Amino acid sequence: MIYRILAVGDVVGEPGLAHLERHLRPLRRLKDIHFTVVNGENAAGVGVTPDQVERMYQAGADVVTLGNHTFGKMQIRQRLEEDPYLLRPANYTGRAPGRGWGVYECGRVRVGVMNLIGRCGLDFHAENPFTTADKLLAERSDVAFTLVDFHAEATSEKLALGYYLDGRVSALWGTHTHVPTADEEVLPRGTGYLTDLGMTGPAVSVLGIQPQQSIETFLGGLPGRYQSAGGPCKLQGAVFSLDSETRLCTAVERVEIR
Ligand code: FE2
Repeated sequence: MIYRILAVGDVVGEPGLAHLERHLRPLRRLKDIHFTVVNGENAAGVGVTPDQVERMYQAGADVVTLGNHTFGKMQIRQRLEEDPYLLRPANYTGRAPGRGWGVYECGRVRVGVMNLIGRCGLDFHAENPFTTADKLLAERSDVAFTLVDFHAEATSEKLALGYYLDGRVSALWGTHTHVPTADEEVLPRGTGYLTDLGMTGPAVSVLGIQPQQSIETFLGGLPGRYQSAGGPCKLQGAVFSLDSETRLCTAVERVEIR
């Protein structure tokens, strides 16, 4: 049987969250989606609150993944300990609260989801994401599909991990840059791959932020508290078609809702 997995790019600010609430369930119906993973680490701009995590579940997310802003809102710590559907990068060092790997029911199969963070230009303190993935895959209990959200800056690091895990995971996508890439494909050994999903947030913006505010920063002004841009939003992500016989991917399709 083919299972269709939807991965949704980083939800940015209140406008992005409201857009997700409006469009995720219709999109799930339209694309016959069985399971949805949403990256939510920018729902509060920098970080996410427990209330916003709850709203993403209500909107149709089965699992919420995070990234470099995991601890941007400190009240998320407790939620990370208690909520198995909320993942932070698995390659955080040992004392970080929460987990980076979870196994979930999806109809008649079980789906494993892994969240990893890149080190190239992003988090130099994290453990090696490549060897962390090896360890988790060696320990995993029986799952039909393994999904990876690799929250990383460098396209090279994302592609390299894609090829490193090719044939060993069902799908791997990148998050964090908020700009979608056009390289969706099934890698040679069967892993569905996309370097970056893009974001769910204001369309007229610099990665979700008011353009003028971002321009001021680059002109040399003092960094301020970033404000989400307003106006119409877009939701960006990808649908991975996964075969329960092979546990691998047959097709990847990018999606965008404006
Ligand atoms: Fe990020």
